[in-house]
Amino acid sequence: MQFFTLKVVGIHQETEDAVTVSFKQPGLKKIKYLPGQYLTLTFRINGRRYIRPYSFSSAPAVDANLEVTVKRVPGGIVSNHIIDKVKIDDLVEVMPPMGDFILNEEIITTETHIVLWGAGSGITPLMSIAKYALHKGIGGHVTLVYGNRNAESVIFQDQINALSAGFQNFSAWHFHTQLSVSPGNPYLVQGRIDPNKVLAVMHTEGVLDDTIHYICGPAGLKESVKAALSALGIEGKNVYSEDFEVVRNPADFDGIVTRMVGVTTNGERTVIEAVKGKSILEAALDAGIDMPYSCQTGNCLVCKGRLLKGDVKMIGVEKLPDGLQPDERLLCSSFPLTDDIEIQVDQ
Ligand SMILES: Cc1cc2nc3c(=O)[nH]c(=O)nc-3n(C[C@H](O)[C@H](O)[C@H](O)COP(=O)(O)OP(=O)(O)OC[C@H]3O[C@@H](n4cnc5c(N)ncnc54)[C@H](O)[C@@H]3O)c2cc1C
Ligand code: FES
Repeated sequence: MQFFTLKVVGIHQETEDAVTVSFKQPGLKKIKYLPGQYLTLTFRINGRRYIRPYSFSSAPAVDANLEVTVKRVPGGIVSNHIIDKVKIDDLVEVMPPMGDFILNEEIITTETHIVLWGAGSGITPLMSIAKYALHKGIGGHVTLVYGNRNAESVIFQDQINALSAGFQNFSAWHFHTQLSVSPGNPYLVQGRIDPNKVLAVMHTEGVLDDTIHYICGPAGLKESVKAALSALGIEGKNVYSEDFEVVRNPADFDGIVTRMVGVTTNGERTVIEAVKGKSILEAALDAGIDMPYSCQTGNCLVCKGRLLKGDVKMIGVEKLPDGLQPDERLLCSSFPLTDDIEIQVDQ
């Protein structure tokens, strides 16, 4: 895997617990990315290397710098490190942009209504998509439906206001679970995102015939939006979603117990203990092996390894990404099923 080194040129406090980090584009070889993709950052913290993906909040050809926006996860190693420790002029190692949560320009016409559904930090790729679509004139109308606790926790309020002021074909709905201002505005609603309410208004405006939907937020949001869209007959191919975190069903772990696993990287074999509930990737990282990975949600293929012997169960992966050979497994989502597992990782 090729790595780049980027220089931090700006840090902007978005809310009490979210910051935007701006990186300078390299002078010679610019980093190309698509709106909705993510950048994978690597840090060495307390002697161990940590790798985490962050969606671009900047938009290509709109923003000069490469920007990611990070929300603090309580107890989270990397989000807290970025928010508390990273400063201007730091150099950060990154992987090339990845991700398929992107504007599908092939099926978007000048009439297509682009609807962006997000909550909390899930706004980041949606912001990139919104800015790009509006500035480049892609699609017809762009609607953002954004859920937060209250006005103080809204990331990018200024940018959302600027898009509303600058583009007549942009509208934003805000849902706040703790509404702290008087709702004189029909687009500011108390409670969690209610897809049926938004879609009912769009229906009366007749704008549901040609729509494309992007969802980024907790699993509950994805499920409720998908259910509401499906009830209206909006096809799956026009509905895209991005997961920041994988939610695994405890029932899937029936039959998984702690087992020893042989892992060979760079010609060196190590036997690791995969404690029940930990993926083979997590167990190898805990054992101090420098493993390749990025998303940890079964999407990017970076963690793939060859299963030479034994059997594993892949858990939490809805659909296997293209490009996996029959003997390859995604180690971030693989859990041991037998005692004779041998895995080889080509770096
Ligand atoms: C494709 C992709 C894009 C992403 N884009 C962004 C982004 O734009 N902005 C952003 O802030 N984050 C984003 N994330 C999440 C980010 O990569 C990290 O997972 C997150 O910052 C937590 O890392 P950590 O090291 O602080 O927490 P860890 O130390 O890894 O985890 C600590 C605990 O928090 C839980 N946890 C992990 N991730 C989350 C989460 N996202 N929300 C709540 N609990 C969590 C874990 O289960 C664990 O119990 C993205 C993730 C993916 C897969
Ligand atoms: S780390 Fe991305 S698929 Fe496993």
